[in-house]
Amino acid sequence: MCGIFAYVGKKQNAGDLIMEGLKALEYRGYDSWGVAVKKQDGQIYLEKHVGKIGQAKLPRLSSTIGIGHTRWATHGGVTRDNAHPHTDCTGNIIIVHNGIVENYTSLKKQLLKKGHIFKSETDTEVIAHWLEEKKKTDNDPLKLMRGLASAIKGMSAVIAFFPEEEVLYVYKYGSPIVFGQNNDGLYLASDPSAMILHTKQVYFLEDNEMLQLGRSGYELYDGHGEIKKITFTTLAYDQEDALLGKYPYFMLKEIHEQPKVIQNIIDTQASNITKVAEFVKKADGTYFIGCGSAYHVSLSGAYLFSKIANRHVNAAIASEFSYLESFIKNTSLVVAFSQSGETIDLISCIRKAQENKAKILAVTNVPGSTLYRMADHRLLLQAGPEKAVATTKAYTAKIAIIYLLAHELAGTIKKAKEDLRLAVSEIQRFLKNTDKIKKMAEQFVKHEHVFILGRGVSYPTALESALKIKEVSYCHAEGFAASELKHGVIALVQKGTPIIVYNPADETYQDALSSAHEVKARGAYVIGISSKNNPIYDDFIEVKDCHEATIIPNVTVAQLLGYYLALAKGYDPDKPRNLAKSVTVK
Ligand code: F6R
Repeated sequence: MCGIFAYVGKKQNAGDLIMEGLKALEYRGYDSWGVAVKKQDGQIYLEKHVGKIGQAKLPRLSSTIGIGHTRWATHGGVTRDNAHPHTDCTGNIIIVHNGIVENYTSLKKQLLKKGHIFKSETDTEVIAHWLEEKKKTDNDPLKLMRGLASAIKGMSAVIAFFPEEEVLYVYKYGSPIVFGQNNDGLYLASDPSAMILHTKQVYFLEDNEMLQLGRSGYELYDGHGEIKKITFTTLAYDQEDALLGKYPYFMLKEIHEQPKVIQNIIDTQASNITKVAEFVKKADGTYFIGCGSAYHVSLSGAYLFSKIANRHVNAAIASEFSYLESFIKNTSLVVAFSQSGETIDLISCIRKAQENKAKILAVTNVPGSTLYRMADHRLLLQAGPEKAVATTKAYTAKIAIIYLLAHELAGTIKKAKEDLRLAVSEIQRFLKNTDKIKKMAEQFVKHEHVFILGRGVSYPTALESALKIKEVSYCHAEGFAASELKHGVIALVQKGTPIIVYNPADETYQDALSSAHEVKARGAYVIGISSKNNPIYDDFIEVKDCHEATIIPNVTVAQLLGYYLALAKGYDPDKPRNLAKSVTVK
């Protein structure tokens, strides 16, 4: 969702650095953007636009300090006025903000009464006018910011730029913000992947902390206003990880990175998995939660834990989990899956689970993220930055982690590694030639619906496959537990409706084949994905048997289908409409 980038330092091209930072954050999803810098002549240059940055460039400006923002509209429509940065009435307080000021209506009323003129419909603008109002009686920006922290309600990351003093103040509660430094200056971003272009030395601000950045350096304050020492962490990313390289889109790049990511998990995660398995054994009540694709991982995990480790797990959509939380106690273990570690629906329910003293295991891709810091135990995907909005490599990485954990609990970790190696070779095999999948995607262009059927552990794979196809290609795709189709949705099947049937060589094989017969009898065009071909299939994609880990290459087929269908329909698979990579508002 919204993205923040800010700079203060020696470089004379702050505007260009900020634009570059905003471009690096584009993948988060946004609908308008803006930049404000102080020029060498003391004037403020402020530019805001609706739409994407594209090839836009700022005019040549000499500047060493400024802020920028990409906005994903929540309060107020997608207009230039509503784009950030926002200013007070004088133009001497400039604000960018991620999150929501929940009490903005009452604050705005008070400020309007005092004569402040608002230019936008946003909640953010109240911050600028509130600071302006208080500045009339106290000119100390630090005190003003501390006052602001208690005045605003809700989760926020706010950067206030005071151009006269040439300082930036950051206040963080709930929404992520990361600070980095190098010899040339100080940087702020809402996401570390925008930082690696400049530095790997970063600090993730904690809730209630305040950071001051200026010409003379930086100072961090805790929630009580006491100065706090910063311990920087080193990002494990490389610059190339954040670049397209030889690929036309990040989605394709990330699909191709999956074998490397899974192999890395096999090679490096064994001892962490052994440690974490001890916590799982001690837990009385285990919950797997996530949003969107991460929920599909949770559901896959519940099947894998049942089948491999003979353990019961409750899988839930994170935003619904709060309504099931009456079961949570101090012996419960909540396993939270999140690529970004920032998804607010997940973070909010983790907070609640912690109030009930549950233990939290984070399975995330971003060290230092909110989830990472909140958790009692952690497993890192180490998949490198994921930039395409639709998750691919982080999805299969999470499955690989949970696969190892299930086998560790069963005492069969060696088998898990063998299966995952098979999955790696299988993905590598069909990534060598994707022509068939590409052609299939081209045929899908004319269809309104695609259905995907799976049983057992292939059911969550069917859900995930449908999500992959619909979110990037806008084709209506729906995943089903194969037998459920007859309980209603079969009414939508007509002559030629494409139906993909996952049919791995497991206990679901015969029943899944029967489902293929049922839909074929209603005219469906049946695509079998299996290790064994069958005359019932109109089209067939071979995926060799990797035991339960077959779900990994199976889902990769759907990732590619979605990708090529998006291209065939002329859409950008990396930036689907309305979606954001990191969903940081409820
Ligand atoms: C779908 C997708 C989303 C995310 C969901 C959770 O392709 O990417 O459904 O899985 O928004 O995001 P994280 O994993 O960052 O919590």
